[in-house]
Amino acid sequence: MQAGAIGDRLSDAISNVQSDIDSLLDALLPVPADTSARLVEAMRYAAIGGGKRVRPLLVVSTAGLFGVSRDAALRVGAAIEAIHVYSLIHDDLPCMDNDDLRHGKPTLHKAFDEATAVLAGDALHALAFAILADNDTSEDPFIRSELIATLAVASGMHGMAGGQMMDMVADEDGVIYDLRTITRLQQLKTGALLAASVEMGAILGRVAPQGRAHLRAYARDIGLAFQIADDLLDVEGDQAKAGKSLRKDAAQGKQTFVTLMGVEKAREQARALVDQAIGHLAAHGHEADILRALARYIVERDR
Ligand code: IPE
Ligand code: IPE
Ligand code: MG
Ligand code: MG
Ligand code: MG
Repeated sequence: MQAGAIGDRLSDAISNVQSDIDSLLDALLPVPADTSARLVEAMRYAAIGGGKRVRPLLVVSTAGLFGVSRDAALRVGAAIEAIHVYSLIHDDLPCMDNDDLRHGKPTLHKAFDEATAVLAGDALHALAFAILADNDTSEDPFIRSELIATLAVASGMHGMAGGQMMDMVADEDGVIYDLRTITRLQQLKTGALLAASVEMGAILGRVAPQGRAHLRAYARDIGLAFQIADDLLDVEGDQAKAGKSLRKDAAQGKQTFVTLMGVEKAREQARALVDQAIGHLAAHGHEADILRALARYIVERDR
């Protein structure tokens, strides 16, 4: 974490969002009394505790620039986090990355079973849109529908799922990606949900699309930097801190900035992207300091 007052403010902001998102998901996931209980127990196992909650913090911090209530921003953050957790559950399955450690504990299909993991992912996917469609998120139906459309695009074929497909195809023999293609892959699989987090904070703040351009540019840069940092962690991170299996990408034939350009150049690229991201916030004063600090944290993090 960064030194000094802003480092302290960022770590407080992260821990507050972590506990608020945990409470909200706890309230949204009561365990039923019939045999579907197993599904909700699995959703709770994967979704409560453990994550850094970077996406909800992006929503809360962006919405905060425009005076949005924290409760509304947290609900939007919980919706994006539900999509993120579903993507991790499926990403860890044997048919995808085949991982047995996530958030410092056994992956969902190890702790439960594969069928339960598939269904928990499906149900978290649906939960995300149910949260956004609820009046408690916004009383304005136009805002609700814009939130839903934004998250839908970021999750689907032109977003996370499309990027995950490109990531899986990269494992096949003879498929070689150039820098442009890897950039596109990363922007879809990881960048899209991070960008949606910023965008949805601005939507809650009723910022018109043309007023969001600089925030979009910030989000695009940190989204890419975030996945480069994840790929660097795979090569040089500490598994105990990261809470997930590392040293796997090269062996699984993943194609990343790190496999393409090496550790040093990839790190330089990530840092340059963060500087560029912070540059896009020049129109804001101290109220955007958490967004600036979060951009630095994204590349310097150890988990
Ligand atoms: C991990 O995301 C998967 C990627 C998209 C790179 P995070 O690093 O945000 O995961 P958690 O939820 O904080 O563990
Ligand atoms: C996953 O990327 C991105 C998702 C959309 C879930 P990775 O496969 O690199 O994420 P980790 O390293 O397993 O967290
Ligand atoms: Mg993966
Ligand atoms: Mg993975
Ligand atoms: Mg990874």
